[in-house]
Formats: sequence, structure tokens, C-alpha cells
Amino acid sequence: MSSESPPTVGDVFAKCDNERTQLATAAKQMRLFPYFVEMGSEAGPEVICEGRPVITLGSNNYLGLSADERVKRAAREAVDRFGTGCTGSRLLNGTLTVHVELEEAIREWLDAEACLVFTTGYAVNFGLLSALVGREDRVFLDSGAHASLLDGAQVTAGSVRLFRHNSAATLRRRLAAWSEDATGGSLVAVDSVFSMEGDLCPITEIAAACSEHGARLLVDEAHSMGVLGPEGRGLAAAEGVHPDLLMGTFSKSFASCGGFLVGPQAVIDYLKISCRPFLFTAAGVPAAMAAAREALRVSLDEPWRRETAMARAASLRSGLVELGYDVGPAGSTIISINIDGEWAAGRLWRALLDDGIYVNLAVPPAVPAGRATLRASTIATHTEEHIERALALFEAHRSTSG
Ligand SMILES: Cc1ncc(COP(=O)(O)O)c(C=O)c1O
Repeated sequence: MSSESPPTVGDVFAKCDNERTQLATAAKQMRLFPYFVEMGSEAGPEVICEGRPVITLGSNNYLGLSADERVKRAAREAVDRFGTGCTGSRLLNGTLTVHVELEEAIREWLDAEACLVFTTGYAVNFGLLSALVGREDRVFLDSGAHASLLDGAQVTAGSVRLFRHNSAATLRRRLAAWSEDATGGSLVAVDSVFSMEGDLCPITEIAAACSEHGARLLVDEAHSMGVLGPEGRGLAAAEGVHPDLLMGTFSKSFASCGGFLVGPQAVIDYLKISCRPFLFTAAGVPAAMAAAREALRVSLDEPWRRETAMARAASLRSGLVELGYDVGPAGSTIISINIDGEWAAGRLWRALLDDGIYVNLAVPPAVPAGRATLRASTIATHTEEHIERALALFEAHRSTSG
């Protein structure tokens, strides 16, 4: 049907013109729209944006490996050896030696029984929840869980309960109520580092609540893999916690695209034949798999990368606190800066970009109503001078933040 002959009764397109899309249009007209900002060069401590170099405090390239020559070479060699695509799904025609080698490297690194590589991290969470939580089962999610977990929970055959953000006490109460007359099993899923606020999950208490009530635990280590814990094995490893399942992504520290899950062999074997977002989509392309494999190798050889990324985050955070900004908790490479009101945050975001720093901006529903959060993140290849320059600009624009 062409747009010239709209339906006479209702129109599914009607919702596309709503208060939020109108707000986005107004923000674009005022140069305050902070999304889909075009980057004109490879990801690094600085990037070409709006025609000039800006300091990037708005990436997930925590180890600074996205532009690393060794990682790029590995990707090029994979293209030469395996071609550009996989021609289909892992199940039928897309499993290449690079996938299997990558799975083995991750399995060994995390000392896990088995590993499965997916095309994205989103597909790991969405697929795992949809395949694992059956009619009689229940999944318990932190209210601030990543969209991939919330979306996966929506399509499970079982039931879903949220618990108060980072509250092991609330989780414990929910699990106790459930176990009174449950007939199925329970799965608790948490992010180890929350992507917008950068706060850490109280993983030891969450794991204790799970074992008290016989619940399985999945930890999403998307923002901690490569950065936290011994050998960058994540927050659970840092705290000596052994979750049943652990997922990570290649789109952050590992300078690529894709995701993985580690856990018991039986679960991985089950997912390989039952998890639709794994089965019915194309396999990760050879260049992406090889880049992730090399990034993991480099990260293990060069521990200075995670140490520097964390040290830069500590300097940036303490500098912002000194300037009087309302800054979120320490402990990761992500620093959230709370601003009252979306428009004030948008004006500060624009002023910083005009003067040469790119940060992310999160507005409701990504953060609670009435608030907005500037999200700054540091990477291994930021120098002390980058952080000093950034802080000087935050100081210059202190009054813009309201
Ligand atoms: C906490 C968390 N989990 C999962 C994902 C999904 O990862 P991917 O980018 O590989 O799809 C993200 C990415 O934004 C994330 O922040």
C-alpha cells in the first residue's frame, strides 16, 4: 500500500508521530539531539566529529583496542582466509574455525566448562532467557537491567519479577515468596556494571541470595570484561563469585562485534539446538571473530590497559567531584554525571561537543523521570592530558549544567 492511500480504520503508522518523536525533532532543530552523532574516523581517545578532532569520553572502547594495528591485522587476515561473510547461521553453514577457536580461547580464559559465541551480546541475553525460562519457571531481574535482559524476559514462557536496583534484600524476599509454592526453577539475571550509571552490582550478596533459594545466576559482564578482576575476567571473578552463567560482549573492551556465553556444557548444548536468536541469524563475520580473538590475546598480554583505563576514570571522577558536579559511584570506567532536566543536560552536552569533548547523554526512560545523565567513560589510550583538557572544559561549562 502506498502512502497516498492510508487505511481508513486505524493506522499502524499513527504512533510514529508522538510527543517523543516531536521532542526529538525540536532537539534536532536546536542542535541538541545527542544520538546518532556521526564519527568520521576510527575509535580512539580522539575522533573526528563534526569535522574536527574531539576527545571521546563517550565510547565503550575501554582497552583502546579498536584501532590497534594487531587487532586490525587479525581482522584483515581473517578476511583473506575466510572471506567477508559466513553465508548463514552457525547451525547450517556459518561455523568457521575462527568461531571455534574464539570459543575455546574464552572458555580457557574464564576457566569455564563450555562457551558459545553469538552474533551480538543482545542476542545472548535475549536468546538465553527466551530459551531457558519455561512455563513453570520465573526470571528475576534488577529493575535497571540492560534492555537485552528485559526484552528476553518479555518473551519467556514463564513469569518475570523485577527487584529494586542493586537490592539483594528485595531479591531475597522475592525469591522466598516464589519458593513457597513454585513448581519450576528460577533464574536471577544481573548486570555486573550498569551501562549508564557505571555502578557495580552487589554480586556477592546477590549470589548468596541465589544459593539460599536454589536459584541459578546469570551475570552480564558486558562492561566489566577486560577491565575488572584478575586478567580482566570481570566483577564476579574479582569478588570470587562463580555464577552459573556468565555473558560478555565483543562490542566494548574487545574492539569488535558479537557476544558470548559461558556455562555448563549441558546448557550450551541445549542452546545450540533450541535458542532461536542463535539458530536463526547469521554467524558473526570472520573479521569480527578474529578481531575479538586478538583483542583478548592483547588484553591478557598488556594488563596496563585495564589499569590505565581505571586510573583515568578515577582522575576524571575526582576532578568532576572537585568541580562540584553530582557524580555517580566509582568502581568502573563509566562516570555518570547527574543533571537536573533534559534540556539543561542537552545544552551542556552541546557546549562540551562544540568545545571538543564527546560524552553520551541518557534521558528518561533510560534514567528516572525528571533527570538526565551525562555518561563519560575512559579508555586505556586516554592520556593524563586528555583528562586535564576534558576537566578544563567541564569547569568552563559548569554554569551551563544548571
Ligand atoms: C549491559 C549490556 N549487556 C548487553 C549488551 C549487548 O551487547 P551487544 O552490543 O554486543 O549487543 C550491552 C550493550 O550495550 C550492554 O550494555
